[in-house]
Amino acid sequence: MVSWFSKSIVAMTVRMPKWFVGWVSRRYVAGPNLEDAVSIMMRLSKEDACFTIDVLGEEITSLAEAQYFLDEYLSVVDAIREHNLDANLSIKPTAFGLLIDEKAGMKNIETLVRMAHEHDLFVRLDMEDHRVTTSTIQVVLDLHNQGLTNVGVVLQGRLFRTLDDINYLETELGPAADYRICKGIYLESEDIAYTSYQDIVDATNACIDRMLAAGSYCSIASHDIPVVEYAKSALKSYGMGPNIPDPRPNAGPPRTAKGPGYEFQMLLGVRGPLRRKLAKNGHRTRVYIPYGKQWYEYSIRRLKENPTIGTQVAKAFMMPWTNRP
Ligand code: FDA
Repeated sequence: MVSWFSKSIVAMTVRMPKWFVGWVSRRYVAGPNLEDAVSIMMRLSKEDACFTIDVLGEEITSLAEAQYFLDEYLSVVDAIREHNLDANLSIKPTAFGLLIDEKAGMKNIETLVRMAHEHDLFVRLDMEDHRVTTSTIQVVLDLHNQGLTNVGVVLQGRLFRTLDDINYLETELGPAADYRICKGIYLESEDIAYTSYQDIVDATNACIDRMLAAGSYCSIASHDIPVVEYAKSALKSYGMGPNIPDPRPNAGPPRTAKGPGYEFQMLLGVRGPLRRKLAKNGHRTRVYIPYGKQWYEYSIRRLKENPTIGTQVAKAFMMPWTNRP
């Protein structure tokens, strides 16, 4: 349950001037430009992190806007190569037009995934709200059917449908399925999703189990200790771990620039000490790096969507020295 304190902080923050929102979010957003993202990645590389880069921006209102994202991601690919970064791409399907015209959105995503494929780069389709769950999964299946296997999806533990989705993807893709599993940032209705903390944790952990059992690649994207600890014990039960080739009999072939069947992922600026500890123990850890001109809209939307972030805002205000990526 979200406390009244958190809710009030969020309500206040979204009314504050842009510079204040910028100060609060500087820890979570690399900056407005690609160079900002590159310099953060260069710094965090020293902490044994690898990266996934997100150009900020979501639902667009015209297909013409999708071109901006295509062009920007092409620059991201160039930057990854130029700076020899251990990084891949995360994209929001609706920024490519999926909700305006499914076919055109699919074509735009295909263009990017094809180009990434030429450079042996992986593309993760972030999962947005329930309106696009089915179509996002379908995009991944269509791309795999075209031989573009450098693409994977995010699934959200909070949704009732997710275990069925994993079973479906296992049937369609076998061990080529490549997931990021997270709780899900969108506060979906109780008709389709778990809404209590413990139910969401349990459901997310059940998804981790199912993904590991299916031989899939499993990126565990959580900062929550019960999820991270559960994942570690589940990995152990499969004999999986740092620097051990994936021992699962049904595992797919090793993947370029990935961990041995799994990795941990965290957002920029969140739970750095936990991430560094995991990395120190040899786990592959990936940091999600959002950057872009739409940092303000992104920050406000995230605050409104998930008021639990309010406590983090309060902490930044009271202990400003902690407010850095
Ligand atoms: P929980 O919310 O319980 O957080 C545990 C602790 O982590 C908090 O107490 C706090 O200390 C810290 N924390 C978590 N989030 C924080 C934040 N934003 N700022 C400051 N501190 C924070 N969702 C989605 O719907 N689609 C997607 O594609 C993705 N992609 C994605 C990628 C990666 C790499 C991560 C880590 C997460 C996502 N998510 C996502 C978001 C995810 O679904 C979820 O909302 C958040 O990770 C918060 O859930 P936790 O499991 O971290 O637990």
